[in-house]
Amino acid sequence: MKPIRKAIFPVAGLGTRFLPATKAMPKEMLTVVDRPLIQHVVDEAREAGIEHMIFVTGRNKGVIEDHFDKQYELEATLKERNKTTELELLAADTPAAGMTSFTRQQQPLGLGHAVWCARDIVGNEPFAVVLPDVLVLNEPGCLKQMVEAYSKQKDKANIIAVEEVPMDRVHMYGIVGVGKEAGPSMPITRMVEKPKREDAPSNLSITGRYILQPEIFDILENQQTGAGGEIQLTDAMITLSKSQPFYAVKFEGRSYDCGSKLGFLTANVAYALNRKDIAGELRAELQQLLG
Ligand code: G1P
Repeated sequence: MKPIRKAIFPVAGLGTRFLPATKAMPKEMLTVVDRPLIQHVVDEAREAGIEHMIFVTGRNKGVIEDHFDKQYELEATLKERNKTTELELLAADTPAAGMTSFTRQQQPLGLGHAVWCARDIVGNEPFAVVLPDVLVLNEPGCLKQMVEAYSKQKDKANIIAVEEVPMDRVHMYGIVGVGKEAGPSMPITRMVEKPKREDAPSNLSITGRYILQPEIFDILENQQTGAGGEIQLTDAMITLSKSQPFYAVKFEGRSYDCGSKLGFLTANVAYALNRKDIAGELRAELQQLLG
């Protein structure tokens, strides 16, 4: 079985829900505690053994590329001032040379189209897709749990992270129907993108983490628009599921939808409470605020 070496991060979205914060800055650079969203998901991918990070960007996203570059001036200044902790932190976060790729989605045609834009960089091997809007706080991370589940399957398996959502929210997600659990993975029997409550096969939502086989690219090439008038990844997965198995992994941990203000703010509190250096003082502050 081929290892998962590459991950696609679709980062072309406009971030209209966070205006004016995202007027001049990509939403993926918003910080949860002191790390940008995009850094959190790249950390998760590295933990899962991913070596090559592929960013599908759009206009005004150049700062994401800068973020993953070396900053010589900054490093020289830190060295001069003997700031070794900060220097080590920067070094640890910088990807290895040649292990990032950036390509542009020239038009906002949907998630399926964004993934398709990376086809030539991925080539003929299985890969991960990670949506930076969704953070999952857990050790091991969500993608690592998925890679483990993947390694237990036969060749050409596809894995999707799922979690339960209230039935009155199923119209906001891709929803899967599953067969009987076999270990940590459940065979997927149905998938629907943003179904009405009455059409949803379950309350298991697709959580923004995928392991997919490269055959998806040929399907995406001719994929018609679906829900919301966009080229949907879910629709291409439905076609692929006719020739390859799909499994749902109910991961450990909880997700935070950082594309919404509430999810983003909650993630900040949850991640901060998970940090030894600030958790104690933050807890005291929160208690005071909440009276
Ligand atoms: C996308 C996917 C959807 C998934 C969701 C998770 O939708 O199309 O299947 O459930 O991400 O966040 P979007 O939120 O981009 O509309």
